[in-house]
Amino acid sequence: MTIQEKITKLKKEKNAIILAHIYQDGAVQAIADFVGDSLELSRKALDVECDVIVFCGVRFMAESAKILNPNKTVLLPVLTAGCPMADMVDAQAIIDHRSEHPDAAVVCYVNSSAEAKAESDVCCTSSNAVKVVRSLEQDKIIFVPDENLGSYVAAQVPEKEIILHKGYCIVHKRVLVDEVQKAKEALPDAQLLVHPECTPDVVDQAHFVGSTAQIINYAKESTHDQFIIATEMGILHILQNQNPDKKFYMASPKLVCVNMKKTHIEDVLASLENMEHEIILKEELMNRARISLDRMLAVK
Ligand code: 13P
Ligand code: SF4
Repeated sequence: MTIQEKITKLKKEKNAIILAHIYQDGAVQAIADFVGDSLELSRKALDVECDVIVFCGVRFMAESAKILNPNKTVLLPVLTAGCPMADMVDAQAIIDHRSEHPDAAVVCYVNSSAEAKAESDVCCTSSNAVKVVRSLEQDKIIFVPDENLGSYVAAQVPEKEIILHKGYCIVHKRVLVDEVQKAKEALPDAQLLVHPECTPDVVDQAHFVGSTAQIINYAKESTHDQFIIATEMGILHILQNQNPDKKFYMASPKLVCVNMKKTHIEDVLASLENMEHEIILKEELMNRARISLDRMLAVK
């Protein structure tokens, strides 16, 4: 039996579903039941009917699935698959921001711990951050942890004051403005598609800024046939499969998230065989963090 066949058999036996983020290895995406960006995966986790969710992504994503659907067993195949940005803000930092700005609302990017979500007013992802901030009645917003996504939101919502926390994505920060300018000069007919975790100087160069799913959608709908991609290279799997006649070029060879690449199909198999590694969070913590996630999902 191939690994893929073993996974399919175990999925049935355990009544499991495999969810994968767009940055996952191509072979993992190929065996997943659903592939999406952070927001799509959160929505999917909410209405999963299986008993077990195998979450191929990084820890905060599996935690969000558990918080949203606490009666399910949520498995993270590789225990060390974390997101360095999520470790850049803790609950105390949010409490400190609040004491400095008591009139502000706290918006927490989902790339964060359950503790940070529990301390915040509402969560957001890269695809709905602007909408979430616009939906709030407060004029002042503390945005954690990503200062680059926060700066992008601030530019889109100038009527609000955005207080930034100094977190960032170690992968998207590697793209340099010189690199994207050179890529644009070399490919003058190409569109530059940028994830808002990139630095503002790179975002300013973009023809389109969006989450991974929004970039995929843009490339599919576009009449252009060449694109320079400024987000993690795992996105190429879907872009190339969906658009065989279009050409995609990475803005930088450094756009590889080692954490997203830790999960291989062998790990997915081991995860199902051994029911590992189960996400366990305290109920009280989940209940508080869920308020912020639910508020986000309610924003239309
Ligand atoms: P998306 O919101 O596009 O899924 O991005 C998540 C992420 O971790 C980006 O680095
Ligand atoms: Fe975290 Fe950046 Fe990797 Fe996304 S790409 S999971 S933000 S380190």
